[in-house]
Amino acid sequence: MLSHKMLSHDAPLQEIILRELGRQRHKLEMIASENFVSESVLAAAACVFTNKYAEGYPDKRYYGGCEYADELENLAQSRARKVFNAEHANVQPHCGSSANMAAFFAVMQPGDTVLGMDLAHGGHLTHGASVSFSGRVFRGVSYGVRKDTEMIDYDQVAEIAEKEKPKVIVAGASAYPRIIDFVKFREIADRCGAVLIVDMAHFAGLVAAGLYPSPLPHAEIVTSTTHKTFRGPRGGLILCRKSLAKAVDDAIFPGVQGGPLLHVIAAKAVAFEEALQPSFIDYQRQIVKNCQRLGARLADAGYRLVSGGTDTHLILVDLRSAGITGQTAQTALDLAGITANKNVVPFEKERFSVASGLRFGTAALTTRGMMESDMDVVANFVIEALRNVRDESNLKKISLRVEEFTQKFPLYPKLDE
Ligand SMILES: Cc1ncc(COP(=O)(O)O)c(C=O)c1O
Repeated sequence: MLSHKMLSHDAPLQEIILRELGRQRHKLEMIASENFVSESVLAAAACVFTNKYAEGYPDKRYYGGCEYADELENLAQSRARKVFNAEHANVQPHCGSSANMAAFFAVMQPGDTVLGMDLAHGGHLTHGASVSFSGRVFRGVSYGVRKDTEMIDYDQVAEIAEKEKPKVIVAGASAYPRIIDFVKFREIADRCGAVLIVDMAHFAGLVAAGLYPSPLPHAEIVTSTTHKTFRGPRGGLILCRKSLAKAVDDAIFPGVQGGPLLHVIAAKAVAFEEALQPSFIDYQRQIVKNCQRLGARLADAGYRLVSGGTDTHLILVDLRSAGITGQTAQTALDLAGITANKNVVPFEKERFSVASGLRFGTAALTTRGMMESDMDVVANFVIEALRNVRDESNLKKISLRVEEFTQKFPLYPKLDE
């Protein structure tokens, strides 16, 4: 297997990679959008296809020598279609943002209106935020969650859609722990004549396993990343109906990208095959069980969960009653060997850079083999760290116990061989 050992001639770089490997091994990785890919995905991502240019699509390339590139992309596409029961798959997006950009360009003109979830309520930058291309090229308007339930306010979505007549409605989020009702979104889109795009980046793994309703029957276009719960390489994916296939393909290339990253497409192909195995369903089920257990333990300790809990791989913890900010908490957790991120909670007043919440996900820890009883241990580490945010020596002591705990769950042992 290819590994950092092949970089022994470049000591500074090898050292950086080894330190990162150590960080991933010895800390609790709880960023909701991260995961640990299999050794097969890792190997494919480092394969010789990195050398090949293949602008275009199978049988319609702009360069010679693409016969194996065509086979590879066809294989990846057919696996993606099978995993998600999709009519058409484009596996070329370099990332989730370029998948969204292409999806928008496939069905909108600059200046058209896109209605997406408010960033401050859990939405993503690319769903119409003013600092992103999505709110600069297009006119972004937003919906949010209800104050009482902290769940999507479908009446508000309908009201805004009726008033603004968006060309596109985007459903999907980065920090929303609940199942999204795609049937309601479809009804709303139909009433105002909008195209429905679902961005399933966060919960694609759950969809593949049948543990989250599939958006495919309801949305004209579904975008995703392949690296979060789906546990593939860093990259993007677009699924759509056959009628939109050409518009979507043209929007990715030549619309927003050049040559595809064929080595990453190889790694996506591995991940699609992994998602078709029965063990993938067990894995995804365990992610949710672990997340619910983690949430319950934090709630038992007095921490409020936004929306009261989770149906998915992530929870959002409101720290306001604990009197600490998300930024303070994130820094303290880091010192304690726990990696998570600050996140605003709906209707709060803090800046994004400070925030009053913490977002936790369990996809990566579950990949390491952790079960519900391990979440009790993890929750205790988190609670202890949050109670000691200003005590660096205590946080350091926690990090030593975290490191000892993580050793029970070996990560990439073959990289040491
Ligand atoms: C819902 C959603 N869509 C799109 C993206 C963008 O993905 P990428 O970082 O690969 O561009 C993210 C990333 O976190 C996301 O959460």
